[in-house]
Amino acid sequence: MDVTNAVNAPLGMLAELTHRCPLHCPYCSNPLELTAREDELGTDEWLSVLEQARELGVLQVHLSGGEPLSRADLPLLVSRAGELGCYVSLVTSGLGLTESRLADLVDRGLAHVQLSVQAADSARANLLAGARAHEHKITAAGLVTRAGLPLSVNVVLHRANHDQLEAMIDLAERMGADRLELANTQYYGWALRNRAALQPTREQLAAAEPIVRAATERLRGRMDLVYVLADYYESYPKPCMSGWGSRQLTVAPDGTVLPCPAATAISTLTLENVRNRTLADIWYQSESFNAYRGEDWMRDPCRSCDRRSIDFGGCRCQAFQLTGDAAATDPVCTLSPDRALVERILEAPREDADFVMRGPR
Ligand code: SF4
Ligand code: FES
Repeated sequence: MDVTNAVNAPLGMLAELTHRCPLHCPYCSNPLELTAREDELGTDEWLSVLEQARELGVLQVHLSGGEPLSRADLPLLVSRAGELGCYVSLVTSGLGLTESRLADLVDRGLAHVQLSVQAADSARANLLAGARAHEHKITAAGLVTRAGLPLSVNVVLHRANHDQLEAMIDLAERMGADRLELANTQYYGWALRNRAALQPTREQLAAAEPIVRAATERLRGRMDLVYVLADYYESYPKPCMSGWGSRQLTVAPDGTVLPCPAATAISTLTLENVRNRTLADIWYQSESFNAYRGEDWMRDPCRSCDRRSIDFGGCRCQAFQLTGDAAATDPVCTLSPDRALVERILEAPREDADFVMRGPR
C-alpha cells in the first residue's frame, strides 16, 4: 500500500545522539536498556540522518540524549542541520557547556537551548540528579542568555520536588528563561520503574494549581509558562504526540526510528533502523509508523467517540504498559474499560522507596 500521499511530512525530529549522560535522574524517559557507546550511530550516519530528515520535510531538529554534549561531533551535526535550514535546538543538562563551546555552536547555527533543572536548591537538585550539577546549570543559563539565545527551562515535577514549585518558578525567572515547562512526570522508561516513588499526592497537585495560575498571570509577556498535567489524575488522556506518526519522529542513539520517544516500550511493535531503511521509507511505509496512524486502528469506545480527533485515543505506550495492548483505549480515559487499572495505581499507598537512579544496568 502506498500511503505517501495520505500522510503529512514530519515537522520535527528528536535526534537522541547518545544515552551517555553525566546525570542519573530517576524520572528519565530513556529506556531501561540504554544504548552502549559502541552501538551509537557514527558521525557520517548522523549526517545522513539529518540530510534525509530535511529532504523528508523536517524543519525543527532537537539534539538530545542522554547528554548531546557528550558527543565530540556535536559541532559538525549542528553545522549540517543549520546549513540544511533547520531550526536547531539543544536539549541539555548544561554540564559540559562552556562559553567557547557555546559560541562555536551558535556560529554553526544553534538557535535555542533547553536546559533541565531538578529542584530549586543545590542540595535537593544534586540529590535528584545523582551528580553535582545544579551550579553548572545556573552558569549554563547565564552563558545561553548572554549569547542572546532563547532559553527554555524544563522541570520534571514529582513527589520529591512539588513542594519547591514556587521557588523553581523564581529560579527560572532569575535564570532569564523565555519559557518554563513544568511537566508532571509521564511514566515511561526509568520514570515508570520509579513510579511509586515519583507519584505526587492529590494535595500536591491541588496546591500547584493556584501557584501556576498566579505565576502565569504575573509573568505574562516575559516568560511563557507551560504546565503539563499529571495525566493519571485527569478524566481524559493527553493527545500524545499529537497523534501517532503525525508530526514528529525520534531517532534513537543506535539508529532505531521511533514514532514516539518511548515506543521501544511496545514490545509487540517491529521497529526499523536507519541503518537498513531510509527515513522516508520508514516514515511513510513502515508497519510501526502506520500501526496507530489516523483512526482506522481504533476500537470502541474511541472509534465512536467525539473526542477521538482531540486526543487520538490517548497514548499508545501507556495503553501497552498498563494493558498489554497498544491498540487499547488509554486507561487514563474514564470511558476506557480499563480505567480501574489507573484508579488502583492512584489509590496505592505512597511508597517511601528509594529511587533507582538511571544508569547502565
Ligand atoms: Fe479519547 Fe478514546 Fe476516551 Fe474518547 S474514548 S475520550 S477518543 S481516549
Ligand atoms: Fe508513546 Fe505516548 S509516549 S505514544
